[in-house]
Amino acid sequence: MSLKATITASRDFVIAPLDRRIFGTFVEHLGRCVYGGIYEPGHKTADENGFRQDVLDLTKELGVTIVRYPGGNFLSGYNWEDGVGPKDQRPVRLDLAWASTETNAFGTNEFMVWAKKAEVEPMFAVNLGTRGPDEARHFLEYCNHPGGTHYSDLRKSHGFPEPHNIKFWCLGNEMDGPWQICAKTAQEYGRIAQETAKVMRWVDDSGLELAACGSSQRAMPTYAAWEYEVLDTCFDQVDFISLHAYFRNDGSDINEFLGEVDNLDVYIKEIVAVADAVAAKRRSKKRIMLSFDEWNVWYKAHRPEDLKKPGWPEAPPLLEEIYNFEDALVVGGALIVLMNNADRVKTACLAQLVNVIGPIMTQTGGDAWRQTIFYPFADASRLGHGEVLRLKIDTTTFATKAHGEVPHLLATAIRDPETGAVGLMVLNRGQADMALDLDIGGLVGDSGESLTIASASELHDRDLKKANTQAEPNAIVPATNVTAKINGSRLTATLKPLSWNTFSLTLGNRR
Ligand code: AHR
Repeated sequence: MSLKATITASRDFVIAPLDRRIFGTFVEHLGRCVYGGIYEPGHKTADENGFRQDVLDLTKELGVTIVRYPGGNFLSGYNWEDGVGPKDQRPVRLDLAWASTETNAFGTNEFMVWAKKAEVEPMFAVNLGTRGPDEARHFLEYCNHPGGTHYSDLRKSHGFPEPHNIKFWCLGNEMDGPWQICAKTAQEYGRIAQETAKVMRWVDDSGLELAACGSSQRAMPTYAAWEYEVLDTCFDQVDFISLHAYFRNDGSDINEFLGEVDNLDVYIKEIVAVADAVAAKRRSKKRIMLSFDEWNVWYKAHRPEDLKKPGWPEAPPLLEEIYNFEDALVVGGALIVLMNNADRVKTACLAQLVNVIGPIMTQTGGDAWRQTIFYPFADASRLGHGEVLRLKIDTTTFATKAHGEVPHLLATAIRDPETGAVGLMVLNRGQADMALDLDIGGLVGDSGESLTIASASELHDRDLKKANTQAEPNAIVPATNVTAKINGSRLTATLKPLSWNTFSLTLGNRR
């Protein structure tokens, strides 16, 4: 039996302009993300800074816009001072978060040079675990103050005369989690976040964007109460609340796994409600935005031996999730949900960038390749320019145990108001072909122009467990969807069962 879905799109129904920072990723001092990932002096592609060019090229191809650094759980025990200045004088430390030895060969300035080369904005974080407002203000002075003070002159002496001007700062990481170094109660954290934000804005009044930690995940026992109490304390000082989500799969039921995506939408809506409740209490028009600064599929490399190795190794292989085709479907679905919440989700970071639950994999000393999840992310970043449209979708549904009845079809459309070009991304969660019928009349209005299909692609394989590996890096790659066509005001296409699909439409003169 084949499935049917219709979508009606109009350029007049706009959810919000899409903040391109929704296509962020994350680089943590964890496993081989930094060492053997973005940084590997001596690698055959390494530049004069030790940055792997193959990873840099793939980062650009992925379309990453912002990168969070330096952690993660690592952050809560990190001394930023250890990672600056002459490398031979940097201390080697125990990293308690990942039971590893941290050489500090890579730090703030190396990251900023890398970020420039990768053409990404930095999203930095201050340690509110073992440290607090005092270090945060010094770190910010080091990074952003022009000169003439102790820490800004220290930066200059390290070879960086110009300030880094880092705008986006996370105030700690997952401070509600018992696994966090120096975890805190909501009351303790709310006050530290408030005072840290206050002094950071005094150091740099140029319009920093500050994100307070939300819950580590929706399943936390203090979920929602944490966000309420934290924001009730630091509402006036912060701009964002963070969200983290990792999708799990027990491998037995694809429907349950695909349904995880619907939970993401519920999660976002709940945090918006909590943030707005705090605003309502104050009769405030201010709206706290959402920074979904860690999200991904992660369930295979989650055994104790994947999280820590004995003997305090340097850059051990940790959290090295090998993504298969079904994981790419869930990542595609999550991207659709994030984009459809563009009115409140302004930044998001796929965690992480390379090797550690990453879309890019490397062999230390060897190749780099694209994991399956690379493709939906790259598609979304390539097509996600402009305003997200509120679509009317008619689709059949399927039943899940954990998420109830959910739609077979998930879709998002982004229209560039400058060019009239439209990017459409569609996930068929049904286990049969789906006849897609899209009414695009409202996308052109009365302009006398028409839309043409610049490209149509599909990501599909009958084997849900197939993965890209070093030996077979192209096992899962997108193909052209040859069924897509436009007839008058309708775009039709056949979507393969369990497939991720994209359509790029451009505006031209009506023939
Ligand atoms: O991304 C891996 C880890 O997951 C991060 O360090 C932490 O913030 C989260 O629990």
